[in-house]
Amino acid sequence: MPKRQLPEFKAPECGRLTDEMTSAYEDIGVIVLRDFVSPEECQLLKNRAKELVDEFDAGDVRSIFSTTDQTQLNDRYFIESGDKIRFFLEKDAFDEAGELRQSKENSLNKMGHAMHDLDPVFERFSRTPALAEIASRLGFVDPAIIQSMYIFKPPKIGGEVVCHQDSTYIYTEPESCVGFWFALEDATTENGCMHFIPGGHKLPLKQRNYRVGEYETRTEILDNEPWPEHLKMPAEAAAGTLVIFNGRAPHLSGPNLSEKSRHAYTLHVIDGNCHYPADNWLQRSPELPLRGFA
Ligand code: FE2
Repeated sequence: MPKRQLPEFKAPECGRLTDEMTSAYEDIGVIVLRDFVSPEECQLLKNRAKELVDEFDAGDVRSIFSTTDQTQLNDRYFIESGDKIRFFLEKDAFDEAGELRQSKENSLNKMGHAMHDLDPVFERFSRTPALAEIASRLGFVDPAIIQSMYIFKPPKIGGEVVCHQDSTYIYTEPESCVGFWFALEDATTENGCMHFIPGGHKLPLKQRNYRVGEYETRTEILDNEPWPEHLKMPAEAAAGTLVIFNGRAPHLSGPNLSEKSRHAYTLHVIDGNCHYPADNWLQRSPELPLRGFA
């Protein structure tokens, strides 16, 4: 696989991806669209995230971490979050005395996974004609937003994310997952921006994560070849940039050891026409049916 640049464009008006953009997406598996989100909208989302974080009691989660049966309770807190708004701390959030090392906001890894359905500010951001237009131009017949995440990537303790494909976790038959990643702050190689292997979405799906029982997941290895990580390219993204990537596109991000946070918001979209297995980790209650961008 030859080393190539990630395709980058100025965001088109009203989400009208050009043929050049859609063919770059098909060819490389990822496109970067600058200035998709206005600075005001970035700030609005950051402010709302801060309000939700302020309402969250880190002590609740600390009790989960400190119990003897922590793995199971951790798994349960996560696995039940598909249709809720829950908070996940960084691995190094607590010091030896059990106190947060940094502010609450700067201790969080992410918030997820249904802000787009449960919070009015996130819902307004997530459901727009421009995003509907993009989904349609990418070939979605019945787009459905399966999850939302707010990624904090806090200064100094923001954890590394190893190379993976999102379809490992958001699996449909046939595969249909696409990630929409919005930079709310500048993402750089210093604060742990994403990296992609260009064209890597043409490689096989290497792993599939699935539920066993109510609160446990396992990962099946489908292909044991190591990733050609030497081909990875950074997806540096100024605040307001939208990165769209195929669920098969291998990506990773380094730790954030810098002084600057790297907030981002993500949506994962599947096609409602595809089969969604009952053993995917993310299951939603029937009271919260899946919806698209309208
Ligand atoms: Fe991912």
